[in-house]
Amino acid sequence: MFKSKITGLGYYVPENVVTNDDLSKLMDTSDAWIQERTGVKERRHIKKGDGNSTCIMAVKAARIALERAELTPDDIDMIVFATLSPDMFFPGGGVEVQEIMGMRTIPALDVRNQCSGFVYAISVADQFIKTGMHKNILVIGSENHSGGLDFTSRGRGVSVIFGDGAGAAVLSRNETGKGGILSTHLHSEGKHKKKLSLLGPSTGYWVPQIIKENPQVDIPYYPYMDGQFVFKHAIVRFSEVIQEGLEANDLSVDDIDMLIPHQANLRISQFIQKKFNLPDEKIYNNIQKFGNTTAASIPIALTEAWESGKIKEGDLVVLAAFGSGFTWGSVIIRW
Ligand code: UT7
Repeated sequence: MFKSKITGLGYYVPENVVTNDDLSKLMDTSDAWIQERTGVKERRHIKKGDGNSTCIMAVKAARIALERAELTPDDIDMIVFATLSPDMFFPGGGVEVQEIMGMRTIPALDVRNQCSGFVYAISVADQFIKTGMHKNILVIGSENHSGGLDFTSRGRGVSVIFGDGAGAAVLSRNETGKGGILSTHLHSEGKHKKKLSLLGPSTGYWVPQIIKENPQVDIPYYPYMDGQFVFKHAIVRFSEVIQEGLEANDLSVDDIDMLIPHQANLRISQFIQKKFNLPDEKIYNNIQKFGNTTAASIPIALTEAWESGKIKEGDLVVLAAFGSGFTWGSVIIRW
């Protein structure tokens, strides 16, 4: 059995900064409400004509990760691409990345686990490396939320939270013997699937049906979230899956050097920090400037934390996520 290690990280966010005051001009909300309830001060949105899409942002993040791993696209054996906002209904974004980056005809796997997408994607890539099937896997989380949100007052409970961006990691066979991914832990509970969902367009809510139904009343083509319900489950599942990962490795909360939680809501991160009694320097948050970028949030935060020197060799790094599905998971890494 081999072990895997993160050998390169990169992220990309669009240049266009959208502040809470900008959103207040579009809907009945305020900077004070958004900051108090979510922690978000601003987020990035793709601007028409800036050339970005989910896959383009993914490629921009991936190129940085590859360069830092000192690899070329030819070295990559597989792509695992997590997104809930692909450029096309099908095929998924993985093949677009393969095409744009001029890669060999390697497998391109799309992961659809929303906010837990990156954790699921890392876990999948880790299994392929452990078995010896692949040596270098490109793992990406990328989202274009702004293209599909309701920016009227009707959608304010959802649309103020989310932002666009991409993050990428290269997972490689660990030849050094030092550090690497210790374990991954994944879960789901489909009975809550509609509590955070986008029903259509899909084969259940196909375009003619959406047109036939009154779109003002029934709006299955915008994301729906029962915020308080999701919040209550998130804080329980985040805590459980972090504990589960630590216990599987005979570690405790005191061993954590850096916790990178999915950036769902600053209040959720603060709840976990308090519960585990973590000092500020052992948890990384950037939702304040990027919002919740779903599958991209963990790789963006991980890259930033690493770039700023907050993660050092030998550190115990914990990634944890919770989101639509419900799905949740954790990754325990010795850096
Ligand atoms: O990333 C995947 C997982 N996602 C999450 O974990 C998100 C979890 N949930 C949340 O982050 C929070 O529940 C929200 C930020 C979505 C909402 O915060 P909340 O404190 O739970 O507010 P609420 O939904 O209970 O709404 C409180 C009030 C309501 O008004 P009334 O009924 O009390 O008159 C809402 O209509 O705030 C109102 N409201 C807003 N007001 C101003 C909802 N959205 C807004 C808004 N601006 N954008």
